[in-house]
Amino acid sequence: MINNIHKWLIIRLAMVCLVLSLVIGGLVQYIGHTRLDDHVIQMAQTETAPYAAEFISYLQFTTEEALAYFNLKIHDLIKNDNLIVVEFYDADAQKITEVIKPSAAEIEKRLPKHGTEFALTKGIICEKITMDQGIFLRVFIPLYDKIGTKLGSMEGIYKAPGEIIAQNRSQTLWALILVVLIIFVTSLTLYPLIIRLNRKLIDYSHILALTNIGMLKVLGSAIAKRDSDTNIHNFRVMLYSVRIAEKLKLSHIAIQGLIKGSFLHDVGKIAIPDAILLKPGKLTAEEFAVMKTHVGHGGDIIRSYDWLKDADEVVRCHHEKFDGNGYPQGLLGEEIPLSARIFAVVDVFDALTSKRPYKEPFSIEASMKIIEEARGSHFDPVIADLFLAQAKTLVAEICNEEESVLHGKLEEYIKTYF
Ligand SMILES: [Fe+2]
Repeated sequence: MINNIHKWLIIRLAMVCLVLSLVIGGLVQYIGHTRLDDHVIQMAQTETAPYAAEFISYLQFTTEEALAYFNLKIHDLIKNDNLIVVEFYDADAQKITEVIKPSAAEIEKRLPKHGTEFALTKGIICEKITMDQGIFLRVFIPLYDKIGTKLGSMEGIYKAPGEIIAQNRSQTLWALILVVLIIFVTSLTLYPLIIRLNRKLIDYSHILALTNIGMLKVLGSAIAKRDSDTNIHNFRVMLYSVRIAEKLKLSHIAIQGLIKGSFLHDVGKIAIPDAILLKPGKLTAEEFAVMKTHVGHGGDIIRSYDWLKDADEVVRCHHEKFDGNGYPQGLLGEEIPLSARIFAVVDVFDALTSKRPYKEPFSIEASMKIIEEARGSHFDPVIADLFLAQAKTLVAEICNEEESVLHGKLEEYIKTYF
């Protein structure tokens, strides 16, 4: 169980780590790309500004000399910046001149071409192009005079400097490493906290179970007080039942139900009148019919509390018989729940070996003989045989012990199963 919780937690924390790393890592990369794009756009716009100023100056004269002078200026400008191509258009999108950086002539040929649609737009257009692991930005800038008349446009192709891309990649990579590291360390920190919290929850649920068991014992004791002075019958049938259940390898959950059912099997007797419950002699048919209702009353009582619901099989079916002649439903064979079939054997055996208002205790041998004779009729033969094979040992350990000793054994079982 402990190892399972560790394995369960490690797998889930690893999954959370992976998912968070993928999601936040993707976000970091996206932010890195966006930041690079913004930076490149800003640099491209800054570097194209002097060209725009020179072009507006040229457009005021548009003579051959002015064009020659303009060409000279833009050839000078392009030598020292990151623009690789600059083209200039008049208001009708007709090219006036261009300058291509000699070192970028090959790249310029491979860049995607454009039409004249840029001439229709009124604002700046930026187009990102990724090629050969480089980032290029194509910028169209419309130019206006002072009264807002469009004079022309310029196009610049800006090549993002390699060191800016490398720096951005390095920053993004370190941010990614940091994010993964933070997620991993957080998960490592959470691990012992969750384990500790889980232990506390187990402790609390154990305390809660013990509180419920205490209530169970009080309730069982209250019922026992009606027709006997002690809890000893409840203790013995519970101990016998668990021993047989363990031989049959019942699950912890099933044994919990059996323990609760053993304590509360006759809880419905609280609704039976004393004149019938405590009558020393044989019951009349009418009285026995009333006595039989204790299983129904018991079922009604325990169904009102969720924690007791798994005692229902024993409470409701402990007077069913294997051949179908029991009550209240006349269930046949394996229709009777296994816990109730186990309990039926030990309940009758303990009743036989105990003193009751209407009889003296039977000897162990006589009691075993009665159980054996009723195998297949009253009792499940497999369970009856199993019980008879263990009977001498069980009797030695349980039947003749003091109530305080049996209570100690019962506490051990409660620790084991709750
Ligand atoms: Fe009963």
